[in-house]
Amino acid sequence: MLKLKGSIKISGDKSVSHRALILSAMSIGKTKISNLLESDDVMRTLAILRELGVKIIKSENCWYVFGNGTNGFMQPSKALDCGNSGTTARLLMGAVSSNPIECTFIGDESLSKRSMSRVTKHLEKIGAEVNITKKDYLPVLLIGKNSLLPATHRMEKASAQIKTALILAALNIHGRTKIIEKVQTRDHTERLMKYLKINFKLSKLKTGEKIIELNGPYEIFSKNIEIPSDPSSASFFIVGALITPCSKIVLKNVMLNPTRIAFLKILKKMGGKIEVEKTKSICGEEVGNITAQHCKLKGINIPSKMSALLIDEYPILSIAASQASGKTVMNGIDELRHKESDRIHSIATNLKKIGFNIRSSKSHLIIQGKNISLKRKIKIKTFNDHRIAMSFAILSIIYNNYLKIDNKKCISISYPDFENHLKKLLVKY
Ligand code: S3P
Repeated sequence: MLKLKGSIKISGDKSVSHRALILSAMSIGKTKISNLLESDDVMRTLAILRELGVKIIKSENCWYVFGNGTNGFMQPSKALDCGNSGTTARLLMGAVSSNPIECTFIGDESLSKRSMSRVTKHLEKIGAEVNITKKDYLPVLLIGKNSLLPATHRMEKASAQIKTALILAALNIHGRTKIIEKVQTRDHTERLMKYLKINFKLSKLKTGEKIIELNGPYEIFSKNIEIPSDPSSASFFIVGALITPCSKIVLKNVMLNPTRIAFLKILKKMGGKIEVEKTKSICGEEVGNITAQHCKLKGINIPSKMSALLIDEYPILSIAASQASGKTVMNGIDELRHKESDRIHSIATNLKKIGFNIRSSKSHLIIQGKNISLKRKIKIKTFNDHRIAMSFAILSIIYNNYLKIDNKKCISISYPDFENHLKKLLVKY
């Protein structure tokens, strides 16, 4: 039998790593970045920034970015390959759009099926020229201008990627850009901008909506950045400890940004034994230690209004739900159909294969918890989705490793050290 025991340091946060690279590339001067996540997705952003004329080197475990300013991107000599990374594609489209260069964005098979018009339609509105495949997909040819118009953008979708693309564009737009968010999404860009002393305004409208106001163009002065540990990566081990008998783990210095740790609230509501102790603040983000131990879980109803704050954690929450007594209902999760895979389908297919009762619709998922003892090996189809692979690798612990993950390689998209870290925590008893 295996249990999870001990303490590890989770790798750097993926969202903050992308933003640290891009904002330091848009700063003037040299930025030292420590604890950068060196995952496939983040390395795509790094390689594209180099292609756009930004010097980036690594020395003694830190990365150094030599920024060229907010209007310093140069004409690339080839297509910008975003691989599997939606964050790379969407954020960089925004960043380059207010520079007078022509960029072609391409991606792998999965990324080429994900919506890009959600960003480009805003950029077109302010004067960028866009040629987009079948009205929504990569390849995208983007012709940027240094005369883009300041405008008010009302975001229809709750997406931190769209919001950040518009913020990055606005950093080199002359005049006042306003971005209105109906539903709060992750706010790392705003926090990093504050840390970099970029002058922008954050307030609330009478309607309760959040408004971000920028008045560009900006000169950003470089400042060293440390990346806190990724709470989404931590969520796999936290659920692992909750569902595996005799387990207790401590994860140190995990980022505790409120827009990212809603999954802890959900797990606690399910009965999860979790303790959080805030320790310090790193570059505008609070961090702390998370302790999780084995306990009984119960199914709950997860309301739609929380979906933007749980967006990357539904796969691992589904694993927790499968081990809980009663049923868990996940509402308003249609955005999950537009991630690295159709995650509602990926979760349902694999849990059904194992023997769980699952019901799903366009925008919801119902998981009935059940005690199953596996007697044979079952092949898990990851659909090349890193979070599906890690979620079922965690479930496999309590099934004596009877779940065979069809493609573990895709884990390196967000967490290349996942298997090493899991090995460190796993002990026989
Ligand atoms: C991200 C935002 C989320 C999330 C993705 C990373 C970001 O996407 O799913 O993994 O870094 O801004 P959306 O904002 O499009 O929901």
